[in-house]
Parts: sequence; structure tokens; C-alpha cells
Amino acid sequence: MRALARLAAATLLVAAPVAAVTVATTASAAEDPAPITVFTSDFEDGTAQGWAGRSAETIAHSTAVAHGGTGSLAVSGRTAAWQGPSHDVLGTFEKGTAYTISAWVRMESGSDNARLSVERRTGEVASYDQVVGNTAVTAGGWTNLTGRYTLATDVDFLRVYVETASTTGSFFLDDVTASYVPSLPIQTDIPAVRDAVTAFPVGAAITGAEIVTDHGALLRRHFDSVTPGNALKWDATEPSENTFTYAQADPLIAFAKTNGLAVRGHTLVWHNQTPSWVFTGADGQPMTATAEDKALLLSRLENHIRNVAGHYGSSIGVWDVVNEVIDENQADGLRRSTWYTVAGLDYIRTAFRVAREVLPDAKLFINDYNTNVPAKRDKLYNLVAQLKAEGVPIDGVGHQMHINVSWPSIAETEAMIQKFVPLGVEQQVTEMDVSIYTNNGESFPAPPADRLLQQAYVYRDMFALFTRYASEITSVTLWGLADDNTWLDTFPVTRKDAPLLFDTRLQAKQAYWGVVDPSKIGVSPSPSSSSVSPSPSVSSSPSSSPSSSPSSSSGNGGCAVTYRVTGSWPGGFQGDVKLTNTGSSAVSGWKLAWQFTGGQQVAQLWNGTATQSGAAVTVANASWNGTLAPNASTSVGFLASWTGSNHAPTAFTLNGTTCAVL
Ligand code: XIL
Repeated sequence: MRALARLAAATLLVAAPVAAVTVATTASAAEDPAPITVFTSDFEDGTAQGWAGRSAETIAHSTAVAHGGTGSLAVSGRTAAWQGPSHDVLGTFEKGTAYTISAWVRMESGSDNARLSVERRTGEVASYDQVVGNTAVTAGGWTNLTGRYTLATDVDFLRVYVETASTTGSFFLDDVTASYVPSLPIQTDIPAVRDAVTAFPVGAAITGAEIVTDHGALLRRHFDSVTPGNALKWDATEPSENTFTYAQADPLIAFAKTNGLAVRGHTLVWHNQTPSWVFTGADGQPMTATAEDKALLLSRLENHIRNVAGHYGSSIGVWDVVNEVIDENQADGLRRSTWYTVAGLDYIRTAFRVAREVLPDAKLFINDYNTNVPAKRDKLYNLVAQLKAEGVPIDGVGHQMHINVSWPSIAETEAMIQKFVPLGVEQQVTEMDVSIYTNNGESFPAPPADRLLQQAYVYRDMFALFTRYASEITSVTLWGLADDNTWLDTFPVTRKDAPLLFDTRLQAKQAYWGVVDPSKIGVSPSPSSSSVSPSPSVSSSPSSSPSSSPSSSSGNGGCAVTYRVTGSWPGGFQGDVKLTNTGSSAVSGWKLAWQFTGGQQVAQLWNGTATQSGAAVTVANASWNGTLAPNASTSVGFLASWTGSNHAPTAFTLNGTTCAVL
């Protein structure tokens, strides 16, 4: 535990000021230029600056309170919570550009939740896009609402507005801005993910924002398939009973068709994003476990699947028929959703039966998260085994794989895949992303270099694992296209995350190289893609001394070492140590040792296992690079902290023998 805690502390120390870590080829995480502001309302000129009520409420300039300066906008006389100030942004917001919208809100008295949205209309059809969800506001001070918005369709009406969740209380608005960071052209000189990964198709989850302009080009270039991230969920397709709308999903499916991308349908049955009418009985009351409610619920389910799956027919070849039905904390492993409490297992049976009837050729999946966790995995296995034995047409198991830079292990993930092999089902990775955060308490203003590096190794190792199981894994989908649009920015807490292969400006990250060509991650070489290497690791146990000898015998010849600092920033650096066996016989198992003279402290090391005791560093080989034939070389890479000076070590030993320093 102590070693882990020290690792975390050291990691943060190194990470704090993010600066260039050398990336072998294309620079990732390019410095963000200053945002360009396209819209400002500061209410300092004594007017309402073009803001108007959404209905008959009163909108007026005010000097009662101000966030900055002396003026703000006062909203009063509201008769419904949805009423509030709105401003035209048609012609200001361009399609495909991601705008950051910021506004300050304060109640006149009392408290409520405020939210910021955009209303858009095409023809007579209005849509309401929430930019910032419910945020507590009071009369005691100003609250900031900040969110990102990308217009994805052609519109003839576009207004930003602020409303509250429950009361009609008066409130103030001030210092509203909208800005964007100019996009960079997508890189056309790097391999396409789909060409680099040939073992299975690779997909990305998308929203409307991903099919336009540069995002559309990036998607088209790198991926084989897409999953609409929200557009096929029940609340989007059947918001009220038997009223089906495909306004969100149709453009995404059309984009996929035009560009030859396969589509994963997500999802027909879930306990989230399902309107409350679905679970409301004929008597207007929440459904309970009565025969009548069960029959009504199952008939609604059947009607939903017949319509939605039928609408797309063969355009959608794979469906997540049911999503997240497992709760490993229940003895029977079944989540106590309303689906379950009203209909028992019959909702799952019905969903698969109807889906098969509508789509005889589609692949029908049961999808869940944390399927790497043994308890959850085993409960899912038991359910699938039972249902398949009954003849329920389940073709595949979907592993969401919402993971992070330090969890889960490759071994646990491998066990997850192995578990389902005997069932004879397909397996797909359906929602992969790799959060840079390892707990809910962390929040970084920008992704630290060491986390991005760790992430690259996770992507490398996970894709290597999936490739080894290519006969089981029939596709891998990432839950998003680029870091500018990821659900992890607000889940499980609000903070900027960076879990995908491309950064917020659509440039390839080290994670991309982890998937496409691991030899280009940072400067460290990688093992062959068929071997699954250990994750970066270091321990700080003082008990293992640099002089302890390796378990296997060492070669009798010499060695040579090249030590390089490959990137450096205030307080931290990245290094690379290349070790060559210059002797006449093979080295089998090695320990490489050196002394730091400037107080440097290794935080993280890859391609070996490090221990550091004071100034003395010892690196033991990883499982896959322990044997060094004569003239063979291997390199270890590391991140470390430094203070004062960062002199290179002058002496190195291999298994106790001094090496030449090149
Ligand atoms: C997420 C979407 O990405 C978000 O935009 C939405 O607000 C919540 O749902 N598991 C799933 C996905 O099966 O449907 C979820 O998608 C992420 C977790």
C-alpha cells in the first residue's frame, strides 16, 4: 500500500506542469491557442443587449446586483419554470464548431436549479439541446453554468436560453460568453485505425456532432463502424406512447450508410433513458408486479422493438437488445429495475424473441459494464447460460469496458473473455474508453503527460489482448470519437476527461499510437504486439537492494548503456535507458542499476520493474525482455521528478558488472 501511495504522489508531482513529452511522430495534445469569443453579454451599457423572454415574462436591465461591473439582466414575472431569457445565435454559431458557453446566474430570492440550453428549429420542428444540466443556484451569490455545444444540423432558428427546474422565482443573468478554439485540420499522414487493426472492426460511438465537418472526416477515415450513443435509446425513439421519431438517429444511420460504416444498435431495453410513461400503468400509477401491469409492459416492449428495429431493418446488423441487466449484489444476479420487478426475466426473453422475429439475420447482444469484475462476470455468465439453454436467441455478450489508466489488469480482462468462450457466443467490446482518472476525487485542468502515456500503454495492451482473442472478439467500439465530446466529462463527476484516441482538437494522441503502432508511443520501444506486457510499474521498497542478484544466470561479457532525457519540464522529465549486451553469450534475466545524483525520483517505468532506494535505482527485466542475445538491445522508459539539477547518471551496472556508457 505504501508503495502505491508514493507512486500516486510522485505521479502527481511529475504531472503538475504539463509540458512537452517527446512524441515520436506527430505532436499530440498541441498547445491550445486562445479561444475566439463569438458572443458576449455583460449588461454594462444599460440595455438588455438583445435578450428576450421565451414567453410573457419580464426581461430588463438591472443594477440591483452584478457579477462583473455594475449591470446585469433581471428576469421576473415568470409563470412557468421553462420561461427565462433567450438570445438569438443563428448566424453566430456555425455547424460543426464546438462552442463553450458560459453564463452566471443568481436567484433574486430563494433557490432552485438552473440550466442552460439551446432551442433549434428546422421547419416547424423544435428541438431542445441541454448544454448545462441542473445546477444549484441561490440568492446568496453567482453560480457559473459552463458547457459545450456543437450544432450538427441545418437550422432556421437558434437561441440560447436559461431556465430553472422547479420554481418560477425571479433571477439574474450576467456575463454570458460563447467561444471556440479554432480546429486543426485532421491528420492525413497517419495510418487509419481501421487499417492498422485488422483482427476485428473498430467502431466509435457518435452523436450528431460527429458526422459533420472535421469530425465526420475523422470518423470516416479511421473507423469501420459506429454506434449512436443516445439516438436509438427509448427516450429518443418513442418519447410518448406509440409516437416514434427517428429525427436524431436517421442522420447518423444515413451517414453510416453513405460512408460504408456498419452500425451497432444501442439499445432496445435499458432502465435508463426510458420515459416514465413506459412504467406507468393503465390506472396512471407506477406499475407493480401485477399480471395486468406485466402484460401492458411486455406489450409496450414488443411494440417498441417491432417499430424501432423494424424501422432500420438490415441497416443495423447488431443490436444491444438488453443493456445492464446484471446486479452482482443480488443473489440471483438480476438488477431490480422496474423491468424486472414488474416482468421478471420475461422482459429479457420477450426482448430477444421479438428482436429475432423482426430481424432474423441480426446479431443480438446482451451488454453490460464491469464484466471484468469476477462477481459480475459470473452472474452474467449464469444468466446467458440459463437463457441460451431455454432457447432464447442470444448471439453475443457485449463488454462495455469503461476502464481507466490503472484498472483493470490485463489478466482480469483476459479472464473475462475466457469465461464466455464455452458458451459459444460472440463477444464484442462495445463502449471502450480509458479515463485518465483513477478515483472520483481527482480533477486535472489538462490531461497530465504521464497519464496520457499510461493510457497509451493501456490501449496498447488491451488491443494486443483483443487481437490474441480475435476468434472470440468480433468488434471493438470506443465510446466516442475524440476527447472534445466524451460522456466522462460529466460522469461520474464533472471534470475534463480525455479517454479516447484523439484529443480535443482531433489530433492523434499517444493512445492512438498505442493502438496503431506502439513503437511510436513516446520514445520507448514496445514488445511485439502478440505479447502482453506488464503495465508501467515501479515500487519504492527500500528492502530490495540494487546489488541483489538476478535469479537466472547472467552472461559473462560486457554491456553498454545509453541514457537520454527525452523530455523535460519544471520538476519532471521523461528518460530512456538503452541497454546492449556487448558480451559473447546471452544474458538471461537482468538487473540494471545506477545512481541518480540530483535527487531524481522515478515515478513510473515501463518495459521493466523499478525499485528505488535513495539515489539507487534498480530495474529488473520485464517478463518479455529478460533474454538478451549477444549484441541485442532493449530499452526502458520512465517518468521521474527532479529538483535543482538533472544530471545524467555516470555509471551503470548490469547484474553487478560495470557497463560502458555511450
Ligand atoms: C451514455 C451517453 O454517452 C451519455 O451521453 C448519456 O448522457 C448517458 O449515457 N453505458 C451505456 C451507454 O450503455 O448507453 C451510456 O451512454 C454510457 C454507459
